[in-house]
Amino acid sequence: MDEEVDLSPKPGALIESLRSLGYTPKTAIADIIDNSITAGAKRINIDMRWNGGLEHSTVTISDNGCGMNEEELKLALRPGAISPTAIRKDKDLGRFGLGMKTASWSIGRLMVIKSRKERKEHIFRWDLDHVVKTERWVVQSGTGDVEESLLMFPTQRVKSGTVVHIARCDKIMGSKTPNYNDNQKAHTAIVKETREHLEMVFHRFLDPKTTPEGQEKPSKVEMTLNGKKCVGWDPFLVSHDGTNLYEEETVKCEGSPIKVRTYILPHRDRLTDEQRAKAAGPKGWNLQQGFYIYRANRLIVSGGWIGKSAAKPEEHTKLARVSVDLIQSMDKAWNLDILKSKARPPANLRDSFGRIGAAARKEAKKAYASRGRRAAPRRPRTGQVQPIWLARKDKTTSNWYFEINKEHNSTKLLLTKLLETDPYLKKLLLSLLRLIAKTIPVSHIIAEYAEDEDAFPHYSGEEDGVRDAAEQIYRHLREEKSLTAERAIEILLLLQPFNEHPEIIQGIHENYMESK
Ligand SMILES: Nc1ncnc2c1ncn2[C@@H]1O[C@H](COP(=O)(O)OP(=O)(O)O)[C@@H](O)[C@H]1O
Ligand SMILES: [Mg+2]
Repeated sequence: MDEEVDLSPKPGALIESLRSLGYTPKTAIADIIDNSITAGAKRINIDMRWNGGLEHSTVTISDNGCGMNEEELKLALRPGAISPTAIRKDKDLGRFGLGMKTASWSIGRLMVIKSRKERKEHIFRWDLDHVVKTERWVVQSGTGDVEESLLMFPTQRVKSGTVVHIARCDKIMGSKTPNYNDNQKAHTAIVKETREHLEMVFHRFLDPKTTPEGQEKPSKVEMTLNGKKCVGWDPFLVSHDGTNLYEEETVKCEGSPIKVRTYILPHRDRLTDEQRAKAAGPKGWNLQQGFYIYRANRLIVSGGWIGKSAAKPEEHTKLARVSVDLIQSMDKAWNLDILKSKARPPANLRDSFGRIGAAARKEAKKAYASRGRRAAPRRPRTGQVQPIWLARKDKTTSNWYFEINKEHNSTKLLLTKLLETDPYLKKLLLSLLRLIAKTIPVSHIIAEYAEDEDAFPHYSGEEDGVRDAAEQIYRHLREEKSLTAERAIEILLLLQPFNEHPEIIQGIHENYMESK
């Protein structure tokens, strides 16, 4: 028989790696809450306490779910006790059999868990310092040096439930800063971020009314963070009558349906300042556009375009938000990651999602421009516009040639900057521009174009280059030329290709004002 060599991982070293899977406090806490929801909890309390210092800070999550008996609790504490490939109930939000452990370790070095079921209570703890010291994967019973009064169920007389208490929170801030006040401020900021995240990812549980028609509504869950109620944040503003459910369609994934709903949110004119600020969401209007992927009603991905030719988030498409409802048997096809914060469509659905995204952006662009007509700048007549290319006729040979317009602000800006830096560079650029003009492969372009017109790029305003170039010029005009916003917009509207895209110019202007 072949020799076998025992290479079981050293607990101390492996645990340090498992602590760094990439959770942030808010994603870790959400993962622990997933377990409470799966356990049928109707009430979940989260406490994030500073307690006067980083090492004293704690995170506690308590629920009135089904709880665990001793055997179940031990199994729950074992990393990887359940295989990721195991078949799970529809409403189960778990997947890898790791969440509770890795999520809590990513925050602190001590996790104490208490669970009550059938009138019996059991307490165990993973103490990573103990694991490192003994080099053994062992949990201990009891609370250790944690006061048991800290392990409170969400209400006094619960029949069953579970409390997860995390202490020695050395990683809650990423890195330690010695300044006490700064730390406390940072902690307050983390609590705020956590609230926003929970109110977003669990909004259908916090406020079942925000579940779309045709989707099974989850039971309501009451949640508090540091004693204050969490209120669901609905990305689609379904209760606002200006929201438009533009399209609803079903895409098949491995024989099961995925419901996809495209919403166009109300234009800013139809929202109060307060509504607009709230609807912006944790990442702000621009980054919150795109797909919202739900799995068993829990939000996994919040915004961003996916699928074929996925676009970057743009100001003028920000009113489009699209919900996608997956069931958990699709986890593998959608490449669900351990942190449950990413999912990627399977290869055979990339086209569908690309198409749905493009249609949503097109509709959002219309809504953005039409409702805001008063605000959006008007297009000038073509004759006044500075083109990028000039068609010229050579006097001696009578041949046509094309050259880049040096009076176009993009070229002019570059030439001026080069002259300021080094006149030699300007000379080099001018000769390159001449060279390009003289050698454009005209006959090649004609031949190919005749062959297949569609194979040529039809540029659209969504391309990065257009927006970037317009933004550079806008900034230059405002900051270096000290022009007013109206004048800068006017100039941009006289430049090709920006003249075709007043909405992009408007977007750049609004972003600029917001960043001030
Ligand atoms: N709050 C809870 N209430 C009841 N059971 C729980 C709770 N938290 C965890 N469990 C049990 O522990 C198991 C392991 O949890 P976890 O490590 O998060 O992995 P997963 O959620 O992927 O199964 C769960 O499948 C569940 O059976
Ligand atoms: Mg879990």
